[in-house]
Amino acid sequence: MKHLIDTTDLSVEQTQEIIDLALDIIANREKYRSVCSGKKLATLFYEPSTRTRLSFTSAMMELGGNVIGFSDAASSSVSKGETVADTVRVISCFADIIAMRHFKEGAPLVASQYANIPIINAGDGSHAHPTQTLTDLLTIRRELGRLDNLTIGFCGDLKFGRTVHSLIKALARHTGIKVILIAPDELRLPTYLREEVCDRNGIPTVEVKTMEEVMPELDILYMTRVQQERFLDRDEFERLRDSFILTPEKLATAKKDMIILHPLPRVNEIVRAVDNDPRAAYFRQVENGKFVRMALICKLLEWSPERPTTPTPRFAEEYIVNEHTCTNRNCISTTEDVDTLFHRTEDGSFRCAYCEAKAKTK
Ligand code: CP
Repeated sequence: MKHLIDTTDLSVEQTQEIIDLALDIIANREKYRSVCSGKKLATLFYEPSTRTRLSFTSAMMELGGNVIGFSDAASSSVSKGETVADTVRVISCFADIIAMRHFKEGAPLVASQYANIPIINAGDGSHAHPTQTLTDLLTIRRELGRLDNLTIGFCGDLKFGRTVHSLIKALARHTGIKVILIAPDELRLPTYLREEVCDRNGIPTVEVKTMEEVMPELDILYMTRVQQERFLDRDEFERLRDSFILTPEKLATAKKDMIILHPLPRVNEIVRAVDNDPRAAYFRQVENGKFVRMALICKLLEWSPERPTTPTPRFAEEYIVNEHTCTNRNCISTTEDVDTLFHRTEDGSFRCAYCEAKAKTK
């Protein structure tokens, strides 16, 4: 059974296959009109979404399939206390593939342990958003013609911005990538991504405080929203909300062929006047999201031809099971009755498989 929980669940070659298929879908829309005829996608969205849920819905409809699901956990039996594990066991009886968004980090990984159909992580807390990464990669490929030899500036909320985390993991597997991190101290990229992803893969990273000082060297400016819903301290959000605002004036020194990406929604971090700049690719990026999700659905169904019958989880040997507890209060393992899973890191500490936070010291 093939799931997409983290960007790295797909090899570079599989990612390439999905992007190539998306490009073929764009060029030959009619050819794909009924390839999912008789199949059902379930969209289980415990957290708000416009692009991801509706692009999955639109993708499945364009493939000739059907869509069931909920867009608000309050309207499902989750509101009565049903767990993620039980929910996906039930939905597996009704659907062929599931796209799940959840406010708890690691919920889609739990789902993948109990479902006997493919699970797609459509965003889990501030952890990961691998289908946004596929969208971003397709957009970069279409706009710039390559996925290597790129200098990319990530600007804004790099702490809570799950799209940033997933895209960095994907780009770290390509050559000639340079990452520039533009964020206030409070919203810096999590250390594990800098040390265990960028440093380990030889990806140079630079941290700066303004976008203006690096604008001339960027091939991609990846803007993000300060994620109000993730803050515990309202005053801190108020202090940081306007940290970076992109204006036409700030683009004066940018390369003529630089592209501006944003996973959206935006609040005020890109002023409307920038939308008319041909380098503003964020609405083209949205449409690519539908095509790449069409390709992903096709590939996951192709790579998962049979349904396993084992109802209880069997964990890969790499995991240390039920020996540690997670330090992250937003991890699914600290709020639902699930088996705890940890990896041993190179420095001998333990990192949670659900959310990548460290284990509690005993
Ligand atoms: N980019 C993205 O995930 O948007 P939504 O929250 O609207 O799905």
